[in-house]
Amino acid sequence: MNNPLRDPLDQRLPRIAGPSSVVLFGVTGDLARKKLMPAIYDLANRGLLPPAFALTGFARREWNRQDFRAVVKESVQAHARTPFNEDTWEQLAEGIRFVEGTFDDPDAFARLRDTVQTLDDERGTGGNHAFYLSIPPDLFPEVCRQLADSGLAADREGSWRRVVIEKPFGHDLASAEELNDVVSETFPPDSVFRIDHYLGKETVQNLLALRFANRLFEPVWNSAHVDHVQITMAEDIGIGSRAGYYDGIGAARDVIQNHLLQLLALTAMEKPDSLAAEHLRAAKEAVLASVRLPEDLDTYTARGQYLGGWRGGKRVDGFLEEDGIEASSRTETYAAMRLTVDTPRWKGTPFYLRAGKRLGKRVTEIALVFKRDSHGLFAQGSHGAGGNALVLRVQPDEGVTVRMSSKVPGSEELRDVAMDFAYGESFTQASPEAYERLILDVLLGDPPLFPRHEEVALSWKILDPITAAWNAQGRPEAYRSGSWGPRSSDLMMERDGRAWRKP
Ligand code: BG6
Repeated sequence: MNNPLRDPLDQRLPRIAGPSSVVLFGVTGDLARKKLMPAIYDLANRGLLPPAFALTGFARREWNRQDFRAVVKESVQAHARTPFNEDTWEQLAEGIRFVEGTFDDPDAFARLRDTVQTLDDERGTGGNHAFYLSIPPDLFPEVCRQLADSGLAADREGSWRRVVIEKPFGHDLASAEELNDVVSETFPPDSVFRIDHYLGKETVQNLLALRFANRLFEPVWNSAHVDHVQITMAEDIGIGSRAGYYDGIGAARDVIQNHLLQLLALTAMEKPDSLAAEHLRAAKEAVLASVRLPEDLDTYTARGQYLGGWRGGKRVDGFLEEDGIEASSRTETYAAMRLTVDTPRWKGTPFYLRAGKRLGKRVTEIALVFKRDSHGLFAQGSHGAGGNALVLRVQPDEGVTVRMSSKVPGSEELRDVAMDFAYGESFTQASPEAYERLILDVLLGDPPLFPRHEEVALSWKILDPITAAWNAQGRPEAYRSGSWGPRSSDLMMERDGRAWRKP
């Protein structure tokens, strides 16, 4: 393993976790396999985990320690971001344990308690344990109860216990409140880490730097200059093998309630007093509390469901033909909406949000589209020049683009040109995966990137009337795989004299 301790100038020093362990529930799930276990390995490989680190898996499988090690190794080799290094792996593998059991079995939790205690004694994990619930939320109550009853949840003098929960935090406001009550009966608010992995992305964190570390943008970051904002999260994949999770949830609950509303909050918020968790959260909450829905929800929201088509030269199924989806399903795989933010800064500026699966391209971006110059000194060019835009490219091709008009050489015509910042060109180091950052923050007890319950609740308050309106409608409009979504979404923009960007 790298040893940054040898180099006193190593910038990683303040960011190396202290003695601790992660107890992972849901080890057989996709998220654990593709993201969580690889991220833990990547942290180890970057020298950010202490020698006294352990990873315990808890599941119903008849596995022993060796079996689970093999599972972790396979997932690391298939999905880790950094190269496979035998030394890193060996050191990590020494701290891997497995406890077989079901979530409702007190004996299994007693075995887990013994395992964790043995790790404290043998590996020096110091009584510091993070319980990562990568499991469906309807299992949270049982697991929290068992953690409490077995004495695993309680902090000891000089050590910590934390719980990490993955979305969905409920499926509406009422269920989110219930879930929160259950979790807070066992863990105090400061020990609860709610993951919204978009906040762990470098490009999303850079939004704050862009806005508040530069003088250039903030003066025009308001409704006097910005015509409207478009937040897009387009995926080219379908639902894959996640029918069980996705059906009945849909695009709005899956990614708008959390990722997109967080992006909106960071884009629209006022400058926080500091980057400390309480200030950041308060600034985001002020925005979420000021979000207003359109009066006419039928006209200013849109939803769709993908049909079959082609993707990368291969024939792909429509949503209703996917394994595990009923032919009568009304779940939307595309959602769009027009929101406004009722603060002095944003009066009158619409925020258009859209998210969908099986769209033409994988791209997440935030685009501030500026008002046009009303003086008209220059004639508009044949290429529709004259609209400035500032585009934060969240992924892929991470960076920032400023679109502006430029005179075409040798002619009086204006044309749009782009000024580009690309992470890949300006920095030599690759960005860590969101989960690396977030898991490390959990171990360090660093809360700014984790939304608190109030943000979750405010987001459901925004979404609930929309999903209720959709429930009263018929089926979502069909759209072809590989297209840019349903026609009703384009119409929503056209009605306002605007158009979606085609990134
Ligand atoms: C998850 C959603 O939160 O984000 C998935 O549940 C989605 O449906 C995923 O595919 C996208 O994450 P990313 O980081 O690939 O944009």
